[in-house]
Amino acid sequence: MAKNSSSPKTPPSQVMLELERLDVGSAVAVVGHPLHVMLVHFPVAFVVATLGVDVLYWWSGDEFWLRAGVWAAGTAFWTGVLASLVGTGELLLVRGIRAHEASWSHAIAAMTLVAIAGASWGLRLVDPASVLPHGLVLSVLASVMVGFAGWHGGKLVFDHGIGILVSPKD
Ligand code: HEM
Repeated sequence: MAKNSSSPKTPPSQVMLELERLDVGSAVAVVGHPLHVMLVHFPVAFVVATLGVDVLYWWSGDEFWLRAGVWAAGTAFWTGVLASLVGTGELLLVRGIRAHEASWSHAIAAMTLVAIAGASWGLRLVDPASVLPHGLVLSVLASVMVGFAGWHGGKLVFDHGIGILVSPKD
């Protein structure tokens, strides 16, 4: 028989204790689903796609990959800006989210990432020939930062319960 998780013998999880202490329900959500979480996949995917495109250009020398890189880097940057605006909305509107140091670490990592993605896009617009090596280096840096920012974002949700539907607000 399945174990009853609400049995008095089961100690409450760290996340549930945190949720009782602070209201961390999302303020920028569609039918309870945080909009930021829906948007972050786009910068994550396009940052990594830009790295892939740069490696293919390095490997093949085909200028098609230069043009693809402009679009991939631009999309990574602008979707990152959009996700960051929504994330900043959460940070400013929800006191419980602001109270977590981890929220600020995530925001700083994410803004560093968006700045690198913007530099990578700008470089491709003004000087496509310098994609090798400068664009490639920016792509590697952006991919490292996307991992760092994404990992921190995951911690907000899975370690601190930010934006999940069992928050006391609901
Ligand atoms: C100033 C910028 C940002 C702020 C203040 C911010 C804030 C937040 C907050 C409060 C959450 C918890 C979920 C929620 O309440 O919506 C979160 C989750 C997350 N964020 Fe951000 N964020 C920012 C930018 C970004 C960017 C650019 C990325 C792209 C890499 C990103 C990736 C993530 C991920 C992957 C999660 C976890 C989603 C999940 O596991 O379901 N964030 N962020």
